[in-house]
Amino acid sequence: MSDGVPRNRKPPLPPASPGSKKSSKKSADDDDESLPRTISFVDLLRVLSGLLVLSCVFSWLITDGSSLTWNYRPRISRWRTLKSIFQPSVLLTEHELSAYTGADAGQPIYVAVNGSVFDVSANPGMYGPGGGYSFFAGRDAARAFVSGCFDTDLTHDLRGLEEMYITGTARVEDDAEAAEIETLVTEGRQETQGRVRWLRKRREKRRQEALLKVKKQIDHWDNFFRFHDKYFYVGQVLHESLEDMPVRELCKKQGKGKRGGKAGKAPSGGSR
Ligand code: HEM
Repeated sequence: MSDGVPRNRKPPLPPASPGSKKSSKKSADDDDESLPRTISFVDLLRVLSGLLVLSCVFSWLITDGSSLTWNYRPRISRWRTLKSIFQPSVLLTEHELSAYTGADAGQPIYVAVNGSVFDVSANPGMYGPGGGYSFFAGRDAARAFVSGCFDTDLTHDLRGLEEMYITGTARVEDDAEAAEIETLVTEGRQETQGRVRWLRKRREKRRQEALLKVKKQIDHWDNFFRFHDKYFYVGQVLHESLEDMPVRELCKKQGKGKRGGKAGKAPSGGSR
């Protein structure tokens, strides 16, 4: 498509006079200064990849050639975690759950906390037969996770457990209030009904606060298993209704009326 006519061509410069040498150099400098002095995206990429390579080399040297990433391994890169993402979650009855204790070597080991079931097969020494915490396997022992009573509290029944967090002066006040309510109710006088209502509210509030502490402890253990490097969530266990069952007493260790003690300070769990 060339028609022989040059396009966008600048008009020819006038011939340079002897005094014009200096001014032409100056204009070249001006051009340089007018160039944008910003760092381009490619420069940035070069620097970042350089740093990455350096980090990998140092990590390789420092970890004796075992890791390029300073021993960091994201959960998602673990085969079992990946598998658990694509596996549909299970729904077990209590009876079905009881089969996963590790007694059958071909089956996984499950523990449950307040309805959520976790696969802990990676640690048979702890949860399998003969392990220090084997009593947690194949059941939901949420109550024992809070109370630490591993002989009597291996149940998901959390009712009444909040009592263990009413301790010291709060327990003394609570007992006194309970006694006062009983007396006032027995007397049955009209003018003390307001006082009874107020006392009941106070006791109820105390229990709500204690319940939050139970929940916090349950959440702690749920998170421990859910986000553990080697364990993973597998589903839910369906519990039978507790409606017709009496509310349990606190186990001896957490016995009601502990004056002054700091109840329920459970340890934060083993290492991951
Ligand atoms: C509410 C009370 C307690 C609960 C619910 C509890 C629960 C647990 C659980 C679930 C594990 C296994 C962690 C894992 O899977 O890695 C564990 C480990 C362990 N617990 Fe307890 N525990 C309690 C009290 C105690 C007490 C009082 C002691 C010490 C006297 C203790 C000592 C240990 C030890 C030494 C380990 C092993 C840690 C490891 O090897 O990683 N626990 N605990």
